[in-house]
Order: sequence, then structure tokens, then C-alpha cells
Amino acid sequence: MALSPFISLLALSFAGISLGQSTTETVWASFAYVLYGERTPVLGESPVTLTPLGAQQLYSQGSLFRARYLSNSSLSDEDNRITTNSAIVGLEKDVIDNNQISIYSTPDDFVTGSTLAFMQGLYPPVAGSSDASTLANGTTIEYPLNGYQYPNIQTLSGLDPNSIWLAGHSGCSEYWSSGNAFTGEAYARQLYNASLAFYQTTWAEVFPDALSASTVNFNHAYDLYEYAQFAYAHNQTARAALNDARLARLRTLADDQQFALNGDLSASGRESGDRIRAVAGRTLAGRVVAQLSTHIASAGTSDKLTLAFGSFEPFLAFFSLAGLAESDDNGSAVLFRQVPQPGAAMVFELLSTNNDTSPYPSSSDLRVRFLYRNGTDPDAPLEEYPLFGSSSGSRLPWSSFRERMGAFAIKDIAGWCRACGAITLFCIALDSSSSGSPPSGTLFGGDGGGSPSPAVAGVIGALTALAVVGAGAASAFVLGGVRVRRCGAGHRRSSSLGGFKGAEKMASDRDVSVVRGGARHARVGSWELGGPGPVPVGGESGLPPKQDAAFFGASVHEKADGDDDVDSIIGRAPVKPLESI
Ligand SMILES: *[C@@H]1O[C@H](CO)[C@@H](O)[C@H](O)[C@H]1NC(C)=O
Ligand SMILES: *[C@@H]1O[C@H](CO)[C@@H](O)[C@H](O)[C@H]1NC(C)=O
Ligand SMILES: *[C@@H]1O[C@H](CO)[C@@H](O)[C@H](O)[C@H]1NC(C)=O
Ligand SMILES: *[C@@H]1O[C@H](CO)[C@@H](O)[C@H](O)[C@H]1NC(C)=O
Ligand SMILES: *[C@@H]1O[C@H](CO)[C@@H](O)[C@H](O)[C@H]1NC(C)=O
Ligand SMILES: *[C@@H]1O[C@H](CO)[C@@H](O)[C@H](O)[C@H]1NC(C)=O
Ligand SMILES: *[C@@H]1O[C@H](CO)[C@@H](O)[C@H](O)[C@H]1NC(C)=O
Repeated sequence: MALSPFISLLALSFAGISLGQSTTETVWASFAYVLYGERTPVLGESPVTLTPLGAQQLYSQGSLFRARYLSNSSLSDEDNRITTNSAIVGLEKDVIDNNQISIYSTPDDFVTGSTLAFMQGLYPPVAGSSDASTLANGTTIEYPLNGYQYPNIQTLSGLDPNSIWLAGHSGCSEYWSSGNAFTGEAYARQLYNASLAFYQTTWAEVFPDALSASTVNFNHAYDLYEYAQFAYAHNQTARAALNDARLARLRTLADDQQFALNGDLSASGRESGDRIRAVAGRTLAGRVVAQLSTHIASAGTSDKLTLAFGSFEPFLAFFSLAGLAESDDNGSAVLFRQVPQPGAAMVFELLSTNNDTSPYPSSSDLRVRFLYRNGTDPDAPLEEYPLFGSSSGSRLPWSSFRERMGAFAIKDIAGWCRACGAITLFCIALDSSSSGSPPSGTLFGGDGGGSPSPAVAGVIGALTALAVVGAGAASAFVLGGVRVRRCGAGHRRSSSLGGFKGAEKMASDRDVSVVRGGARHARVGSWELGGPGPVPVGGESGLPPKQDAAFFGASVHEKADGDDDVDSIIGRAPVKPLESI
């Protein structure tokens, strides 16, 4: 197994953090939500993509998960400071079994790229992994790149109902309205006034003429921090001019802004008390419980490991909902009010407190613990934190975990559509199906483990198609249909699976990719004022958030020039239909 420079660095330097390895516990399943790695900044001039450093960050995070879940026994001393060995019962250790693992990614290429990099660390290349390697004439043939392994990554675009579990905020109109209102709130105005001079002098001194003056203020706090952080990491001149203190202040402002936009539980949308700004945490919680429930119902045979990759909003929202941002005993509240570092991971583990690996425990013996790793620094530990300000220790019995999560989780798509006032096709479809009883429970992906979801998804697909026609959105559909057929004729340039376009990347992709990344990630920092910037952050300025181009109409509008990355929105499973045409 090839070790990244980052993992080998584990051997160096750090204060011993004892994680007290317990031998009397057995991990049965795990759900991890992982943030993408370093990317080029949204406000920058180049398209938003994963950087080599970002890929290394995710690779090292994947390697750490490998050490935790897939290594046989005790870890080396170095690894042991960062994580304990907690092998998941029955999970294939060397050769990936895509039936055991569910991998979900949002469609941005820096996220799918992050997903692939993580998987390269989790399941590194292995020679002789397949019985099918040997040919009749005696020759042995390995997979390319010394036995590269192929994970089945499900990329969920905004038109896929299941995307709400990964990015519940993304298509949520009420979330955007509430965020819009934030700029007018006293808290925001006060920060705006207090920081305006700082922003302006910093930019004048460090990045003269780089951004338009109307962009350089607190309303763009996150994007500006990202811009400065990127320059700090990559440009020596800028690093010296910027200095640590200013970067730290930019970060604090970005943290304050994003925590208010995603973790402020007092803000409401359509119904009072609906905690609309934390909607992404509410959907994520629903998914975590559903995924672990499926695992338990299958007596441990399915959904052993679920890996979800996306943006930072769900982190902050969940931290806030789960009381992590409040419990101040250990000062960890500070940590949970910050935008996570690139590659950060939060993990939910289902375990029993004995070391019997069979039979599968009864659900009353199962417990859940929550872990968080603040980025991918070699000395950043994967640490356990108590949820819900739990005084009863950090491991909650499964039943109370489910109950506490259920108190704020969004459990079905109709619930999300209601709370969000979303106008996505699948919401229209659910709305117009007069039965009003949407299929509940296992709506998420579920290709692993033979859950009923494909059928359910089919129903939703059919309803969607009907609603499209019924709602007079037929033109969009026709465009989509035409595009699918055209692709079938052999024009497809790149798989919807990944962001690695390499040499085949066409000129038309450039703008698209700025718009995609920009639209999805500029909006929190940038759409509020809709101010004109030097780059198209958030698509057309003033675009109502609910029309977030990347979410709703990317394939229909922006992509008309031949980028077919998101054709998969037409079908449910993003990969198969295209491959099999
Ligand atoms: C892990 O243990 C299994 C069975 O005990 C063994 O076959 C395998 O070689 C071990 N793998 C490693 C990496 O030590
Ligand atoms: C065996 O077959 C493979 C594929 O047909 C071919 O590439 C290889 O050269 C053959 N080996 C020998 C020893 O003939
Ligand atoms: C911010 O500054 C504006 C203009 O100077 C002023 O009208 C407003 O009252 C200030 N707001 C706060 C919260 O200080
Ligand atoms: C580094 O930053 C400075 C300004 O801070 C800028 O003028 C220069 O072009 C940057 N260099 C590169 C290689 O981007
Ligand atoms: C605080 O930290 C200590 C050890 O670092 C841990 O034992 C304790 O449970 C923590 N308490 C809370 C409320 O996080
Ligand atoms: C999170 O990680 C960053 C980078 O490693 C570090 O600078 C920061 O202090 C950490 N935050 C906390 C609260 O530990
Ligand atoms: C757990 O395993 C250890 C050794 O691996 C053994 O000594 C201990 O008795 C086991 N505990 C239980 C509860 O089975």
C-alpha cells in the first residue's frame, strides 16, 4: 500500500493524544460525511476544481479510514494517536466489494474528485484481486495502474430527489430566502460595519484590483476567506503581505457568517420553529438514521459503510442541531462553530459493547457514537464527542439516538418539499400525486443491499415525468430527452461519474465549471446582494436563490452548448443508463 506523504508524516511530531483503545467493542456500521478538499476559489479567475493538495488531503483521509476500519489489529503507534483500530465486522479489507459500501457525492467536480481521492486511500490498488486475472493461455492480467480498484460512486444531481440528503440546503427556496434576510439582520449589519474598513484595506494592500469593490465586504465573507486562504497557501508574495493575523480574522468572519447562515436555529421559514437554515443538517440526520436502520433491519448484512461527500453547510447545520456548538465544557463549542477544514469528516458509528463478532446483537445492545476530525492535518485526531449535550457519555443507546435525531430530522422527501417550498420537479410530482402519501423510509439511493428504493425511485421518476408535462415544463424535458439521445450517438465526452476530464476537457467546459462551482458555492457568501462581481459568482446576479442555476436548470440552460455532464439527471442512476446506451 502506497502511503501518501501526509500519512508518512504521521510518524513525526505531535503531542500525544491518548484515545484509550478499548478492546471490548465491536463496530458494525459506519456513516461518514466528508468535506471536499482544497479547491480553487470561487472568486478566482480559473474554474473551480480540486487542487492536487485537495486530492492529497482526501487521499490521506481515506487512508486514515482504512487504518481505522480495514486494518487487522492494532495500529502502529503513530496511527494510534490519530485513531483507534475499529474494524467493521465483515467489511472486505483489501478488495472493494461495492455491494457492501454506499458512496454518494454531490455533482460538483471538486466533490466527485475528492470522492475518488478518498477511495484511492481507502482501497489502494491491489494486485491479483480477481480470480478473473488469469487467462487460458496462462497470462495474468491486472487491472490498470497496478490493480486500481473501481468504487461505485453515485453522483446525485439536484434533480435527483435523493440529493436532498447530501445537500438539503441546495434546492431549498426557503433556506435561500432566510439567508437573504440575514444581511438585513442587526447581527450581520453590525459585523458588516465593523469589518468594512478591514476588508477594504486588506484587499487594497494585498490584492489590488483583484476583485470589484462591491464584493469586498462581509456579505461575501466566506468567498473572500477562501480567496485569501488560497493565495496564502499558493502565493509567496500574497502570503507575506497578508500575514497570519489578517487571515485569521478573515476566517473568523467567514465562520461567523456561515454559522449564522446554517446554524442559526432561531430563524424560521414557512412554519415557525422549522429551523430552516439548518435544513441540510435535518436531512442529513434523517439519512443517517435511515441508513443505520436499514443496516440493523438486515441484521448487519447491508449498508456496513456509507460514505457521503459534499459541502460544509450540512456540517454546521448538524453541529448546531445536535447541540455540539453549545456544550462548552471542553471548549469544543468553538470547534463546532467553525467552517470545517478541507477534508474534514464527521462519523456516526454503530457499535456493541462486547467483542463478539457474531451473532448480530439485538438492537437494545447497539449504541451510536459520534466522531469528528477537523481536517486532515497529520496531528488532527478523529475524536469522539457527545451528541445532544449528553451527560450520559458519548455513546447513546440506539433507541435514544434515533429518538433524539428524529426530533429534528426530515424523514421523507415530501417533508423537505413542504419545509422548503421547493419548486423542483420531484416536489411538483409529489404535490400533484393526490394520494398525498409519499413513499417513506428508504428513499435514498439504496442500490446496495437490495433495498426497495429502485422501485420507489421509478415511481418518483414516472410521477416526475407526468408532472413535467402537467406543469407545462415540457420544453425542458424535450431538451433533456434530445440530449440523451444525442449522447447515445457517441458524443459523450466524459462520464458523469467524475471530474477528471483531462485532455478531453473542451473549451465550453470552462464557463460551465465556473458557473457550476460558483453557483453552488458562491450563493451563501455572494448572492445576498446580487452585486456584480468580476466573475459570474452565482450565475446571473440577482437570480433568486431558488433558481440556483446549478441546482435546477444547469443541464437545460447552461449546458446547452454541449456539456453533457449532467445528462444523468434524466434518469435516476447517474451512471448506468449512459454507459449502457
Ligand atoms: C488480516 O487477517 C486475515 C485473516 O486473519 C489474513 O488473511 C490477512 O492476510 C490479514 N491482512 C493483513 C493486512 O494483515
Ligand atoms: C495470452 O492472451 C492475451 C490476450 O489474448 C495476450 O495478450 C497474451 O500475449 C497471450 N499470452 C501468450 C503467452 O500467448
Ligand atoms: C452601519 O453603518 C450604517 C452607515 O454608516 C449605519 O446607518 C448603521 O446604523 C450601522 N449599523 C450598525 C449596526 O452599526
Ligand atoms: C501573487 O499575488 C500577487 C498579489 O498578492 C499577485 O500580484 C501575483 O500575480 C500573484 N502571483 C501568482 C503567480 O499568482
Ligand atoms: C471533556 O474532555 C474530557 C477529556 O478530554 C472528556 O473525558 C469529557 O467527557 C469531555 N466532556 C465533554 C462534555 O465533552
Ligand atoms: C482545526 O484544524 C486547524 C488546522 O489543522 C487548526 O488550525 C485549528 O486550530 C483546529 N481547530 C480547533 C478548534 O482545534
Ligand atoms: C475481548 O477480547 C479479548 C482479547 O482479544 C479477551 O481477552 C476478552 O475476554 C474479550 N472480551 C469479551 C467480553 O469477550
